[in-house]
Amino acid sequence: ELVQDIPTLRDRIARWRREDPDGRVGFVPTMGYLHEGHLALIRRARAECRRVVVSVFVNPLQFGPHEDYARYPRDLDRDRRLAAAAGADLLFHPSVEVMYPRGEPGVFVDVGDLARRWEGARRPGHFRGVVTVVTKLFHLVQPDRAYFGQKDAQQAVIIRRMVADLDFPVEVVVCPTVREPDGLALSSRNVYLDRRQRQAAPTLYRALVAARRRLEAGEREGPALVAAMEAVLRAEPLLEPEYAAVVGASDLEPLERVEGEVLLLVAARLGSTRLIDNLWLVVD
Ligand code: PAJ
Repeated sequence: ELVQDIPTLRDRIARWRREDPDGRVGFVPTMGYLHEGHLALIRRARAECRRVVVSVFVNPLQFGPHEDYARYPRDLDRDRRLAAAAGADLLFHPSVEVMYPRGEPGVFVDVGDLARRWEGARRPGHFRGVVTVVTKLFHLVQPDRAYFGQKDAQQAVIIRRMVADLDFPVEVVVCPTVREPDGLALSSRNVYLDRRQRQAAPTLYRALVAARRRLEAGEREGPALVAAMEAVLRAEPLLEPEYAAVVGASDLEPLERVEGEVLLLVAARLGSTRLIDNLWLVVD
């Protein structure tokens, strides 16, 4: 069922809760233009929950003034079909006026140091916009479980931390990144790439794999792994690298000695498109 207003959404969820008080409600927040990465989250929710809500909302609050809010790809009919086929019970697609009826919110959820580096440094206000809209969506849907992708590693870390710090009664499930056969992580933004850029795009993943190989060969110095990633990124002339980093998987701070749960992070521009990718690893 397609639902575009808050009273209907609350009514449907209240009805489910009455019909089956012990049945889990799963929630997959998205900005739409669904691809296999999103659909993997929906299928996982379908497998684990009695009911599944998917939201499609291109959240203006998380876009910078010079970012792609206006041209972000949208196709509600297709999203509706794909979400239903993957097992969604309800697609929540509110307008900006429904989500922000008083215009810009007077109160935001603020992210501390976890938003200081990496995506947060390049996209000021981005994570504040993300956690504010996810808070609103959690309040509207009141899910038992919410599903996020490893693709957006910093976002996943911040949402987990928000749920813990602010005591949301929600279990956060982070699902593996879905990739094209050549390694490129699926993203709604991949449609912006022309043929040559698309050929160059898997370089991000190749950089991550190069660092993973060095780790497997025994390298434990963070800076050496960063250099290995940078060398691969720099070898592709179409790519403008933004950062490559090896960080702790919960505090996102750069590591000198690599050990425990770590994230390899890369970001680069291809023309006007920004791409990010990461690998989550346990290093003994
Ligand atoms: P969006 O970019 O549409 O992504 C929705 C969810 O799908 C996120 O949890 C994201 O990490 C996940 N995802 C995207 N590509 C993926 C891939 N290749 N493999 C696995 N999962 C993938 O992230 C957002 O929207 C927004 O910031 C949102 C959380 C909805 C708040 O507005």
